[in-house]
Amino acid sequence: MIVIKENYDELSKGAAKLIKEAILEKPNLVLGLATGSTPLGTYQELIQMHKESILDFSRIITFNLDEYLGLSANHSQSYHYYMKKNLFGEININPENIHIPDGTAKDVKALCRDYEKAIQEAGGIDLQILGIGSDGHIGFNEPGTSLDSRTHVAKLAESTIRDNSRFFEKKEDVPESAITMGVQTIFEAKKIILLASGENKATAVAKALEGPITSQITASILQRHPNIIVILDEKAASKLKKYG
Ligand code: PGA
Repeated sequence: MIVIKENYDELSKGAAKLIKEAILEKPNLVLGLATGSTPLGTYQELIQMHKESILDFSRIITFNLDEYLGLSANHSQSYHYYMKKNLFGEININPENIHIPDGTAKDVKALCRDYEKAIQEAGGIDLQILGIGSDGHIGFNEPGTSLDSRTHVAKLAESTIRDNSRFFEKKEDVPESAITMGVQTIFEAKKIILLASGENKATAVAKALEGPITSQITASILQRHPNIIVILDEKAASKLKKYG
C-alpha cells in the first residue's frame, strides 16, 4: 500500500501512528529501526507519545539496520550515538533489548552471524522501519548487492558517501564500509514501513516501486513484500507514474 502525505510532518505522524498501534497490540514488539534524516520526525512523535504515557517501550526489542565500520558507540556520527540521542535516551527502553551492530567488532564475520541469530531468537522482526537511499538502497545494501544477502560488511557507494557527508566535517571522514542487515534479512520482516521524503528521493522511489525488481535498486525487492506500507510526501512521490 502506498500512502502519500502532504509534507514531512504528516508523513512522520502517519508512521508514528502505525508504530503506536503495533506496540499497543504487541507490547513486546520486535522493532527494526533505521537512522538517517527521514525517521527523525517519527522518533520525535514516538518520544512525545511516551512522555504523554501513551507508549511504554519497556518490553520492546529493537534491531537497527546498520552501523558504520570502525566507528565506536560514542563517536558522534555512529548510529549507536544517533539512536541514543534521537530515541533511546528519551524513552524507557531496556538497554538489554537494544541491538545495533558493533562497528568496532574484531571478528566481523562472527558478529554478522550472531546478529542474524539474535533476530531469529527474538522470533524475527515484527515491524521494520526503512528509509531509502538516493541510489535505491535499503540499509547499506548498495546497487549490485545480492537480493539474497544477509547481515554482512558492505562497501558504501560513492553516492552514499556524498549523501552522508553532510553529517561529517569533510567527505573523507565518512567511513567507506558498514555492517548492514542484508536484503533478505530485511525482506523477512513480517511488516515493513518504508518512508521517503523530498525531491532527491523521487527517482529512487519511482524505480523501487514501479521499475523492474533488480539488485541495482535493492529496494525494488519490496514490491514482492506481502505486508508493506510505503509513506511518501508529495515531493518523494512526484515521479511515480501512478500518483505523480
Ligand atoms: P536519509 O537516508 O533518511 O538520511 O535520507 C536514507 C537512507 O540512506 O536509507
